Amino acid sequence: ENLVLILDFGSQYTHLITRRVRQLGVLSLCVSGTAPLSSLAGLRPRAVVLSGGPHSVHAEGAPSFPEGFLDFAAGAGAHVLGVCYGMQLLVQTLGGAVEPGVRQEYGDMEVEVTAPSSALYGEQGKRQSVWMSHGDEVVRLPEGFEVVARSVQGAIAAIEHREKRFYGLQYHPEVTHSPQGMETLRHFLFDVCGIKADWKMQDVLDEEIKTIKSMVGPDEHVICALSGGVDSTVAATLVHNAIGDRLHCVFVDNGLLRYKEKERVMSTFNSDLHLPVTCIDASEKFLTELKGVKDPEMKRKIIGREFIVVFDEFAHMLEQKIGKRPEYLVQGTLYPDVIESCPPPGSGRTHSHTIKSHHNVGGLPKDMKLKLIEPLKLLFKDEVRKLGSILNVPESFLKRHPFPGPGLAVRVIGDVTAGNALEVLRQVDEIFIQAIKDAGLYDEIWQAFAVFLPVQTVGVQGDQRTHSHVVALRAITSEDGMTANWYDFERPFLVDVVKKICNNVRGVNRVVLDVTSKPPATVEWE
Ligand code: XMP
Repeated sequence: ENLVLILDFGSQYTHLITRRVRQLGVLSLCVSGTAPLSSLAGLRPRAVVLSGGPHSVHAEGAPSFPEGFLDFAAGAGAHVLGVCYGMQLLVQTLGGAVEPGVRQEYGDMEVEVTAPSSALYGEQGKRQSVWMSHGDEVVRLPEGFEVVARSVQGAIAAIEHREKRFYGLQYHPEVTHSPQGMETLRHFLFDVCGIKADWKMQDVLDEEIKTIKSMVGPDEHVICALSGGVDSTVAATLVHNAIGDRLHCVFVDNGLLRYKEKERVMSTFNSDLHLPVTCIDASEKFLTELKGVKDPEMKRKIIGREFIVVFDEFAHMLEQKIGKRPEYLVQGTLYPDVIESCPPPGSGRTHSHTIKSHHNVGGLPKDMKLKLIEPLKLLFKDEVRKLGSILNVPESFLKRHPFPGPGLAVRVIGDVTAGNALEVLRQVDEIFIQAIKDAGLYDEIWQAFAVFLPVQTVGVQGDQRTHSHVVALRAITSEDGMTANWYDFERPFLVDVVKKICNNVRGVNRVVLDVTSKPPATVEWE
């Protein structure tokens, strides 16, 4: 009943609008700005936000909403808010004029509310600092519109046509650089559109459980591959709540896990979550296949292939046991994955809503013909954590740093089976992570880990010359792993951790710290 639809025209901030609306307790869905009207059938949004975008409305092929969209919105009784490009598109479509700006406005800017009775601003401050990012500007309004705010340079910053329920903001209220932007969005949704904040995680959970119960027949079975990460664990716990032990989970020990990882996650699955999990030890097979392989892509391919073999065996084993093949597969797909597989118009990427090959199991056998259950596919990561918390997934588990599907294979550079590289890496990594936890930094850091380098250098330990390995430490801060900054530890922390590593791990006499951001580097070394 209280749905906000975001039409994406390619702005880097579109997902942020979606998230801001949800933070206000309202369900928002993001769809491609040029999606056909038929794909919106059945939706009755109370508000529509037209996002920003990198285009000029005059450029050839500039994206626009489908014909009839404004009638659709009016039919639903929705208020339409255009943001930046979205505002220009609205103006141009309704007969106004947009031109290349004399003053191109980028960055922090002051705007002044010029209409005292503006619906968009209500009682908000008359002067606001906002984040502008536009080359074009609106120079003539369509009939019935009113300018309600201008930038200090005189450009039109906000417009409205209250009767027709059209609104426009030339700046980005969704970014933190617009300190009062969240208040403007709040006022727009609740006071202007009359929307109620009814997007609650408990309701999402109840709804999902109801859907899964009605989807999976009473004697049908479901499988799920657990990686030890947050998403697959929360997804499995939710499905387990819906269908009980007709869910069959598998956790694969591929020989590339962290120190005591198997014991730790299996204990959480069994004791805290009571999930039915089969642990398959395939470490020997994985490591045999990886022997002598140095090329990182090749390592990934081998690991993906071996996961498929194990997974197939698991399905076969289940079939023997329960007398029928499982029909469904649970995946912990998140909303950003769904949005990413429907790229915005003009992004140059093609529209490909393919089923994402499971990141952690590296793909699934084609002949499995499993139907997918993706209970998290409308949620962002922080929402999954909230859901996990309602499902009693331990807090410490929900806060775990991400760990890549191919495991330590991407953190031992070169041949993972050479010498005792994996064992050395496990020990170094454990000391590093434990030190981070002891210093109370774990939650502040997005991801931290050690890397084993196939490089030996000379050292001196206990009066003896050594020729031992170098390990690297990497810790980053990030929002989503797409970009990252290296974490700046205090000097005493580093001094202490290096001492612990060199004193306790045989075969390591040198520790280096990775101080590279992403870009130019990636998070994993591979
Ligand atoms: P990169 O190295 O691409 O890593 O900058 C970004 C984030 O993704 C994680 N990562 C993976 N996660 N399967 C996963 O589940 C993978 O194959 C994989 N590769 C990288 C990485 O740990 C970081 O958090």
